[in-house]
Amino acid sequence: MNSTPATPEPPASPDAVQSAWEAAYQRFETPEQEIRKFISRLNEMGQAAWPRDARVVEIFCGRGNGLHALTRLGFTRLEGVDYSPALLHRYSGPAACTVADCRALPFPDASRDILIVQGGMHHLPQLPEDLDRVLAEVVRVLVPGGRFMVIEPWLTPFLRFVHWAAFFPPARKSWDKLDALATMTELERVTYEQWLGQPELLLERIRRPFEVERCATTWGKLRFVGRKPG
Ligand SMILES: C[S@@+](CC[C@H](N)C(=O)[O-])C[C@H]1O[C@@H](n2cnc3c(N)ncnc32)[C@H](O)[C@@H]1O
Repeated sequence: MNSTPATPEPPASPDAVQSAWEAAYQRFETPEQEIRKFISRLNEMGQAAWPRDARVVEIFCGRGNGLHALTRLGFTRLEGVDYSPALLHRYSGPAACTVADCRALPFPDASRDILIVQGGMHHLPQLPEDLDRVLAEVVRVLVPGGRFMVIEPWLTPFLRFVHWAAFFPPARKSWDKLDALATMTELERVTYEQWLGQPELLLERIRRPFEVERCATTWGKLRFVGRKPG
């Protein structure tokens, strides 16, 4: 019998956590699956009525599949912002992409027509302060009447079921997508749980600066479109 105490795992560096998260994210769905998902969400959110030459920025754009979806829908003036050079590097398309922190957007006041976030704000470390910073930046950068579209995870009964399934070992073992989801959830647990744990406060903060066009919390997602008063 070995009586040597187990050596504790050294804490993972932030870069190692980020790389592991990015690897799981890329395993979760193929780019084509993600683009189709984004097109279907944009349809639901009313994109058909938005001008094709609107100046659109996808914030927290990651590897840019939301930008590909917007290109396929005919939008011609696209930009993306994300703080991961590794993910942005994977994007190749017509949008101009910038490595930056979405808490300080690299755009002048009142210079863009539509800002979009699809699953980024739940990564913010300090809530509600960082959310307030992002929202203040969105409002600053949008023109009066400009739109802000948000899709973020939301703790509905469906999401509770998905979490249960993702952490049910036989299910996780037999379905790689579920394992990738569980891995991402583990690696972003602190910010993810912080985000899911205060829905009323966060929703009030998101709605407050805007005239609300759409707002629903179903199937594990917040779906929101608001316009900057103008
Ligand atoms: C779930 S991914 C979103 C993926 C994206 N919608 C796509 O199409 O690939 C979250 C993204 O937010 C980025 N991110 C997290 N915090 C950020 C911040 N403060 N500023 C900019 N990007 C951030 C991460 O690098 C990651 O790409």
